[in-house]
Amino acid sequence: MATTAHDMDSVSGLLEELKVFDDDLELNEQNRLQMLQVARALVRALETPQETVLRLCWAEPTLYGAIIMAIDTGLFRHMNRCPDLPMTARNLSEFTGVDPTLLKRGRIMKHLAAMGVIHEYGPDEYLPNKLSRTLSLEKYADGFPCMANGAMRAIYKLPEYFKKVGYVNPNDPTDGPFQYAYNTSKHWFVWSTQYPSLFRQFNNHMSAYHQGRPSWMDADFFPVHSVLTAGARRDADSVFLVDVGGGLGHDLMEFSQKHPSTPGRLILQDKRDVIAQIQGGLGEIEAMAHNFFTKQPIQGARAYYLHSVLHDWPDNECIRILSCIAGSMEPGYSKLLINENIVPDQGADWQITGLDLMLMTLVSARERREGEWRQLLAQAGFQIVHIWTYSAGVESLIECELV
Ligand SMILES: C[S@@+](CC[C@H](N)C(=O)[O-])C[C@H]1O[C@@H](n2cnc3c(N)ncnc32)[C@H](O)[C@@H]1O
Repeated sequence: MATTAHDMDSVSGLLEELKVFDDDLELNEQNRLQMLQVARALVRALETPQETVLRLCWAEPTLYGAIIMAIDTGLFRHMNRCPDLPMTARNLSEFTGVDPTLLKRGRIMKHLAAMGVIHEYGPDEYLPNKLSRTLSLEKYADGFPCMANGAMRAIYKLPEYFKKVGYVNPNDPTDGPFQYAYNTSKHWFVWSTQYPSLFRQFNNHMSAYHQGRPSWMDADFFPVHSVLTAGARRDADSVFLVDVGGGLGHDLMEFSQKHPSTPGRLILQDKRDVIAQIQGGLGEIEAMAHNFFTKQPIQGARAYYLHSVLHDWPDNECIRILSCIAGSMEPGYSKLLINENIVPDQGADWQITGLDLMLMTLVSARERREGEWRQLLAQAGFQIVHIWTYSAGVESLIECELV
C-alpha cells in the first residue's frame, strides 16, 4: 500500500481536466488557479504514501533551513547579479564565505535545485530561477526569518501543548500555543514589537503576501464604482476609505493607483509603532496612529475596511473592534468592507487551512466559515449585504451595513 501511487484510478480523469485548459481556454488568472488545483491533485495521486512521508520528514524541513541559510548569506542575491551566467559552488563560496563543501557535493545547492528553488544548469553549475530571484528581494525573503524566529518553535511544540491542555481549542490570545512555546504571557503582536527586525520582517511579509493576488479592487471582483463611488460625498473633507489595521499602507496604495479618481480622503490606521515605520511614499494617503480597540475617530466615512484583521482575534475581541467602528458609521451611508477568507464547507484550499493553523498557533484565532461570519457580524450590529468571491484560496470581500 505505502509504495504504490496514492490514487492511480483518478490520474486519467485529472489529465482530461488539464487538457480542457490546454485546448480551449485562455490562461487568465482564474483558469491558472483552477489548473494549478488540478495539477496538485495529479501530483498527489501519482506520489506514493512512502514518497510523501519522506518528502515531509526530510525534504521540506531541510529545504526550509537551506532557504534561510541562502537568504542569510546573500546567496540568492549573488546569483541574481549575473542571472544568465551559471555559477559553480566554488564561485558562490567566494562570494558568500560559505564552506564550498557545504554548497557543492550534493549539499545546499543540490537540495535547492532538487526542490525547484534554483535551476541546475549542468554538473555543479547553477542559475537563478523566478523563485530564487523573488527570494533575493527582502520583502519576499523576510517571510522565512519571520516564521523561523517568531513561529516555528510554537509549531513544533503544538503536539506537546495540546497534550498538556487536553486538546482544547485555544481561545485566549495571551495564553495559547505561542505563549507556551516562547515562555511569555504577551500577545504575539506585543511580543514581536520587542524585536525590531522581526517586526519589520512581519510587516514586509504582510505586504508581500497580498501583492499580485486577485484583489477586490479589480473590476472583475467588486464593483467599486457602483457600490462605493457613485453615492459618495464629494466635498474635500469627506473621507472615502479608512483602512483600519492597514499595516504599512500597501492596500490603500493599490487602491489609489487602481481608482485614482474616487472622491474624498484615504486614511490609513494602525498601531503607533507600525505607523512610525512608514518612510514616506504614501502620496495623498493620510497615516494615523489608532488603536482599533478604542472609538473610531473618523466619523461617517463612506467605507471602513478591515483586511486580515478579524482573523487575528477570537470572537469577543472581534466584537469589540467592530463595535468601535459601528459607533462612528453613518446609517444608510457608511459601509463596512471585510477582506477575509471564507472557509468553504468542503474542499478548503491549503492557503486557508495553513493560515488557519498558523493563526491558532500564534494568536489563538481562526479563519471562519460563512455562517460564523454572519453570526459574528450580527452580534456586532451588522448585516451582510453581499459576499464577493473570486476563486478558491483568494480572500472574499464581505460588504456590510449597520442593521
Ligand atoms: C495581519 S496584519 C494585516 C495588515 C493589513 N491589513 C494587511 O492586510 O496586510 C494585522 C494588522 O493589525 C494591526 N494591529 C494589531 N493590533 C492593533 C491595534 N490594537 N490597533 C490597530 N492595529 C492593530 C497590526 O499592526 C497589523 O498591521
